[in-house]
Amino acid sequence: MNNGNIMEIKELKKGFDNGRIKALNGINLEIKKGEFVSIIGPSGSGKSTLLNMMGALDSADEGSILVAGKDLTHTKDLSEFRSKEIGFIFQLHNLIPNLSVLENVTIPMYGNGYNSKQMDVRAMNLLKYVNLQDKASRKPTELSGGERQRVAIARALVNKPSIILADEPTGSLDSKNGHMVLENLKELHEKENVTLIMVTHDMNVAAMAERTINVLDGKVQN
Ligand SMILES: Nc1ncnc2c1ncn2[C@@H]1O[C@H](COP(=O)(O)OP(=O)(O)OP(=O)(O)O)[C@@H](O)[C@H]1O
Ligand SMILES: [Mg+2]
Repeated sequence: MNNGNIMEIKELKKGFDNGRIKALNGINLEIKKGEFVSIIGPSGSGKSTLLNMMGALDSADEGSILVAGKDLTHTKDLSEFRSKEIGFIFQLHNLIPNLSVLENVTIPMYGNGYNSKQMDVRAMNLLKYVNLQDKASRKPTELSGGERQRVAIARALVNKPSIILADEPTGSLDSKNGHMVLENLKELHEKENVTLIMVTHDMNVAAMAERTINVLDGKVQN
């Protein structure tokens, strides 16, 4: 992909329930490296399914998907690809409750050749970045929803991904915390040239992106 695209999706299809549910029904999409796009669409239209495909968390039935130069339909070891290239931020941030904030951020670094000192330093720097250095030794349950989501952002960044996939990152937050999370993501995109792909149902949030992609019935609307 020498055309500046970090993602090329052609006629991507995905069904559930032996094909009775057509979650993705021929998605065609190109995303440029460093672009910030939002994905909007009604509930059940296929947004999360699409995001999962982009992050190699699920495989397609038909069509092709190229991400960061890799053809995901024909790649065997997707976990290595995922850990190197993708940072995921889920709506329910999936932090591990009995580990500290710092430990939660270091987890994706295991197995990537860092020693524990290096992991702690990197994790601490990222916690500073999301303004949570004071909470490093706390447990996630002791944090507010917005703080937890910022921990999830720090964790998503820890392996320096080229792509951040965020599924309704502000969906469970009040407007103040949601705003902080969005500012963190936007700054990341602007300063580090990270490709940011964000699902949202909030039109105001979607408008922050450089481009909005409308998904309806498993297809991209024009
Ligand atoms: N694991 C699954 N098994 C069966 N059906 C599924 C599965 N995951 C998604 N679906 C179905 O696929 C369709 C698309 O779901 P998806 O989660 O992608 O929607 P969405 O656009 O993210 O919706 P929302 O805005 O509510 O999060 C829906 O009809 C959903 O019920
Ligand atoms: Mg969804």
